Amino acid sequence: MTDLGKQRVLTGVKPTEAPHIGNYIGAIRPAIELAAQAEDSYLFIADYHALNIIRNAEELKEYTYLIAASWLALGLDAEKTAFYRQSDIPEIFEITTILSAVTPKGLMNRAHAYKAAIDKNKEAGRKGADLDYGINMGLYTYPILMAADILAPRGTLVPVGRDQIQHVEMTRDIAGSFNHLFGDILTLPDFYVQESTGLLPGLDGQKMSKSYGNHIPVFMDSKKRRKLIMKIVTDSKLPEEPKNPDENTIYQLYCHFATETERAEMRSGFEKGGMGYGDAKQLLFEAVERDLEEPSKIYNDLLADKKRIDTLLEKGAEKARETAAATLKDMRHAIGLR
Ligand code: TRP
Repeated sequence: MTDLGKQRVLTGVKPTEAPHIGNYIGAIRPAIELAAQAEDSYLFIADYHALNIIRNAEELKEYTYLIAASWLALGLDAEKTAFYRQSDIPEIFEITTILSAVTPKGLMNRAHAYKAAIDKNKEAGRKGADLDYGINMGLYTYPILMAADILAPRGTLVPVGRDQIQHVEMTRDIAGSFNHLFGDILTLPDFYVQESTGLLPGLDGQKMSKSYGNHIPVFMDSKKRRKLIMKIVTDSKLPEEPKNPDENTIYQLYCHFATETERAEMRSGFEKGGMGYGDAKQLLFEAVERDLEEPSKIYNDLLADKKRIDTLLEKGAEKARETAAATLKDMRHAIGLR
């Protein structure tokens, strides 16, 4: 593992609906832990990236607050981490323009998201110029904006999901082109993928996903949370029958919230027999509750006081703008602008 003490951890999150515990375990918790360990850290809400999809002012505003409140409630330390809206850093957009001039069009043609959109059009029987049907320039140049996000504050380590690795590699390519032409100005980042989590099962044992409707939201009141956990689908084995914990949704979820001792106890209870599904669900509820009861309160409090969220994000933007402005100044000087 890289020496986190020397890294500037940076990542962006698109404004979306409130997270479920799969998002929490797989992305939010590890990113917050990484940010806490790093020398310094930047975390922003990628609202201009979201504009490609969200075409409703109220929705964009609302999702931005939901995501800000989520990360803060789950323990992001806004004193240490610069936490801001992408749209509050105008330098990012000027940097995007400069980077566009050194980015080969062919590189963008290879981006997964763009290729997927083209493939979808092919499948729908479109041909020729129609292959670009429904694809806007924001989607096409998405990787350049993302490169500017990362390069502006000089992020060195970028925690991302697997689907975003290519974008960080493109950031390196783009920064490399700029440096090759104008000198050693930009800092090439590395990506960082959290390996160990695996897929988190939802209530029905399939991958937890909002679109399958099998998810457990992070923020809920305790009664609703308990009710939902009691709905986890199991087979009809009796409490005294031995069960395989590795094929068991309750145990798999429990592993992410319980201590090692608690985990071992549930495991042996299932293996030997004696651990019934009802009792296991109660234990799971208690472990999740221990982790998320307080954050759920903080989340509600924050959303009831959006001014406080604005103030925090503005403070983060001040810090991010400072570094972004310094980078932009170096870039402008290198290309021959005043
Ligand atoms: N593209 C990322 C996503 O879809 C969000 C993002 C935007 C990002 N800019 C970034 C992530 C910079 C890391 C670094 O999840």
